[in-house]
Amino acid sequence: KKTIQIAIDGPASAGKSTVAKIVANQLHYIYCDTGAMYRALTLAALEEGVAPDDEEGLLALLNKISITFQQQPDGQLVFLNERDVTSAIRQHDVTRHVSDVSAHKQVREEMVKRQQQIASDGGIVMDGRDIGTMVLPNAELKIFLVASVEERAMRRYKENQEKGIPTDYDRLKNEIELRDFQDSTRQASPLVQADDAILLDTTGLSIKEVVDRILNYAENAR
Ligand code: C5P
Repeated sequence: KKTIQIAIDGPASAGKSTVAKIVANQLHYIYCDTGAMYRALTLAALEEGVAPDDEEGLLALLNKISITFQQQPDGQLVFLNERDVTSAIRQHDVTRHVSDVSAHKQVREEMVKRQQQIASDGGIVMDGRDIGTMVLPNAELKIFLVASVEERAMRRYKENQEKGIPTDYDRLKNEIELRDFQDSTRQASPLVQADDAILLDTTGLSIKEVVDRILNYAENAR
């Protein structure tokens, strides 16, 4: 069996990181959540007072911070320099600004470089928006994960409820739609399905069903 690269892209809250984590675990591969990297930069920008539309400022900030992952049995921790920001990057404020921050070409070029570096070590499952198109164009397996916006909003809503975070369903749905629109219409590597990606609609599927399908594809690609 050879070691392969698995790219998982798709719109917000489609379950990419949930299934990517499990698939990576099963295959004993590294998992990399590229959205977490854009979120970490967004958090740093908010804290340092760098505006989300200030491309040069963001690039300068990115060049002086390190964003690293620590693999855990059930996922990974995200570090901004030496600080654990795993939960801080999920804050509403970060979510609201991350699409603006990630729209800049120079920011993306630097992120892509870092992501390719992380992937250069061998077996990897990487999720994001431009993995199959830009970061790992030669990945042996590319999945484009989608689900209806209602189902995605409902999954997030339930997740928040379980965590005790009060949430308004309609607002959540609107925010998901807005982020998808921004990510799909930006100039620099917009969210788009790669020509050779497999479209997987997870509406009505359980996590296990999605994972099993991806593992099946991976088996055939190895
Ligand atoms: O995956 P997640 O929803 O955490 O990603 C947050 C945001 O980061 C996305 O809405 C998108 O704007 C940006 N992103 C990106 N390219 C990636 C991963 C995430 O532009 N590869």
